[in-house]
Amino acid sequence: MEEQRGQWGSTFGFLMAAIGSAVGLGNIWGFPYKMGKCGGGAFLLVYLLLVIFVGFATMLGELALGRKYGRGAVGTYAAIGKKWTWVGYMGVASGFFILAFYSVLGGMVLRYMIGFIMQIFGGSGFEGLGGGDFFGSFTTNAAGMMAYYAIFMAVNIIIVAGGIEGGIEKFTKIAMPALAAILIVVIIYVACQPGAGEGYKFAFVPDFSILTTDFFTVLKTAAGQMFFSLSLGMGCMITYGSYLGKEQNLESNMIIIPIADTCFAICAAMAVLPACAAFGQEYGAGPGLLFITLHEVFNVGMGGFIGNLMGFLFYFLVFLAAITSSISLLEVCTAYLIDKQIEKGKEPDRKKLTITIAAIIFLVGIPVALDGLGAGRAGGAVLDIPATFLGVTENIPMAIDCWLDFYDCISEGIMMPLGAAIMSIIIGWVIGTKVVADEVAETPGVKLRAVAIMDICFKFIVPAIMVVVLIAQIQDFF
Ligand code: TRP
Repeated sequence: MEEQRGQWGSTFGFLMAAIGSAVGLGNIWGFPYKMGKCGGGAFLLVYLLLVIFVGFATMLGELALGRKYGRGAVGTYAAIGKKWTWVGYMGVASGFFILAFYSVLGGMVLRYMIGFIMQIFGGSGFEGLGGGDFFGSFTTNAAGMMAYYAIFMAVNIIIVAGGIEGGIEKFTKIAMPALAAILIVVIIYVACQPGAGEGYKFAFVPDFSILTTDFFTVLKTAAGQMFFSLSLGMGCMITYGSYLGKEQNLESNMIIIPIADTCFAICAAMAVLPACAAFGQEYGAGPGLLFITLHEVFNVGMGGFIGNLMGFLFYFLVFLAAITSSISLLEVCTAYLIDKQIEKGKEPDRKKLTITIAAIIFLVGIPVALDGLGAGRAGGAVLDIPATFLGVTENIPMAIDCWLDFYDCISEGIMMPLGAAIMSIIIGWVIGTKVVADEVAETPGVKLRAVAIMDICFKFIVPAIMVVVLIAQIQDFF
């Protein structure tokens, strides 16, 4: 069984894969802006507390369940009890929808990266258009969006089809150190630019008054960001955990992965916001920050050879961050199919299964690539937004204002917080925290400290925070 499913070759390899999953678009375009918007250092404090009391426990829970049962999300929940199988299916479905829109975004990142390469070699990388204009022209260009989306998905397939050790681990062992190195170069370059200081100020200077005036906003923003950034709530870490050998120390992994993810997020804030400040760009959230603001920063603000070089390095970094995350999403889906084959007594053909599921996901993601990220046909795209299909023309809720948000709402908005809450409740109240502690103790010489605190986390803190996230997401989306 182990042989058919595969295993990590080394602790370092596993860590790179898991940290690679965690460090993604969420860190680069979500975290910096949210931190600046929600009280800077004060937000960071709340975020760190959430990492410690929610992130650590949930990470440990997922890794331990995965290793204990040796299956992906569906198999693991089914092994706990038939009546929980649906929680696993919810996880696979979340991975499915996130990968669909994540790959469209990944494809766009690829397009920007190639644009800067073309400019390095003297070509015109962006049709001579500025940030907002290029964004509008590219996102409504159906053929271009589809082509880059397809390339990004193909890269995913190649890596995941290579298997755990021979594909995912091999790739992330190189990609993650490269990502870290590029990030450091960008941070240093940006720090040397006059005017960068404002960016650090926006990101980091604590505004503790927000904790009394608007605590709920800080809490929900930090909590939502935290669990998405750590790749929790959909069985991704269950799946990665299922390839861990008993000699791997779960207790230290549950701490290293979240800490590393948080460090990358803070570093992203030290690169992105000061760059905007130094080159006179307004900070904004979401796709605009990554594809309009930062494009202006490199293409116009810095400009010239250095702008092209830095632009290429930056979008290459974002590409690495995106692909090391998206392969973990695809692996969740692939692992489900592999487990099913093994259960039927068949020899799983990883390559074939990976291609099959990725092709289906690709088809489902096509609307995301074709509605101009919310422009709709009125805005020059070839496909209408979901709201138009549903006949909603006024007060359009975010959930249906574009296909990306629609898929995001189903997955990140509803299924994932629910999944994380239920997993925690299962551990705390159904099977008992001892099961997790026993799994940690399978490694010779390792014993879970702080079992009592973990027990409180599983029983009360994690479910409570996840309910907060669920309510907040529903408020935001509808
Ligand atoms: N953590 C990634 C990011 O920050 C996204 C991601 C990858 C993810 N795999 C996941 C989120 C699994 C939730 C669950 O961009």
